[in-house]
Amino acid sequence: PSASPSAGLTIRLCEPRGFCAGVERAIQIVVLALKKHGAPVYVRHEIVHNRYVVDGLRDMGAIFVKELDEIPDDGQPVVFSAHGVPKSVPAKAEARDMLYLDATCPLVSKVHKQALRHMRHGRHVILVGHKGHPEVVGTMGQLPEGAVTLIESEEDVAAFTPDDPAALGFVTQTTLSVDDTAGVIGALEAKFPELQAPASESICYATTNRQEAVKAASPGTDLFLIVGAPNSSNSKRLVEVALKAGARQAVLVEGAGEIPFDAIPADGCVAISAGASAPEVLVNGVIDALRSRFEAKLELVQTAEENELFPVMRSLRETPLTKA
Ligand code: F3S
Repeated sequence: PSASPSAGLTIRLCEPRGFCAGVERAIQIVVLALKKHGAPVYVRHEIVHNRYVVDGLRDMGAIFVKELDEIPDDGQPVVFSAHGVPKSVPAKAEARDMLYLDATCPLVSKVHKQALRHMRHGRHVILVGHKGHPEVVGTMGQLPEGAVTLIESEEDVAAFTPDDPAALGFVTQTTLSVDDTAGVIGALEAKFPELQAPASESICYATTNRQEAVKAASPGTDLFLIVGAPNSSNSKRLVEVALKAGARQAVLVEGAGEIPFDAIPADGCVAISAGASAPEVLVNGVIDALRSRFEAKLELVQTAEENELFPVMRSLRETPLTKA
């Protein structure tokens, strides 16, 4: 730590950061389902991309599976993750007469509807997103095979030759980089002037707001710590945004145990944000770890206020609360 009283580490804390309304809702659905139906409650795919959250729910009695086939008994409910699922998944659950609770974020469902709307208007659908991400699998699976083309980059745009260039509509993954996506959409519009946009923006408010705050906090930052999981798309985008906006270094950390202390000058500046699936307790752990090693002062970099709240489905809302 620095000898001078005025020096020391500056910690810039981004606001908004961490949990979004879709993640809060998905976690609540699992918790309320456990309360109503008792353990086990099955969850298809990680409910949200965060190991801490998943482990916590597992301790409460949730069982995570990759596919419905792994669920031995149809008597207990199964929850679908916040990322959304292909149509074949609820269809399969219905065929087995399973009780399922769909925790798909309403903003992901909105993108599904926009994709369907393009199709109904006779358009081939372009989905801008990352191959293999569960949200992309879910969105593609809303439409029949062959109705959607995934575009990941401007190179993909150059290589794309649709049957009818005059009948195209696009949607995007909700958690993309706002700036990179603008580049891809720009290339699409230049190549296909009749391309139809969705009725409303696909990238969600939480993604946009977290990226804005990271941008504002980046200039002059020695190290940007993004709390999030390696498979969390929106968290990975925050690392890229920080580097582009001027942070000298930026890393994704799952928690305090992964902080690269050697990269932090004692009188430098560290900024912190967290992906939409990262709980605040992990952010606090990172702040505490920095404070225990450095003389530090905390600054808040706030670029927006969030009041979004997505209610859970009625069947769980009506759960009578058991007395403690
Ligand atoms: Fe929904 Fe956006 Fe969160 S799509 S789950 S509000 S990151």
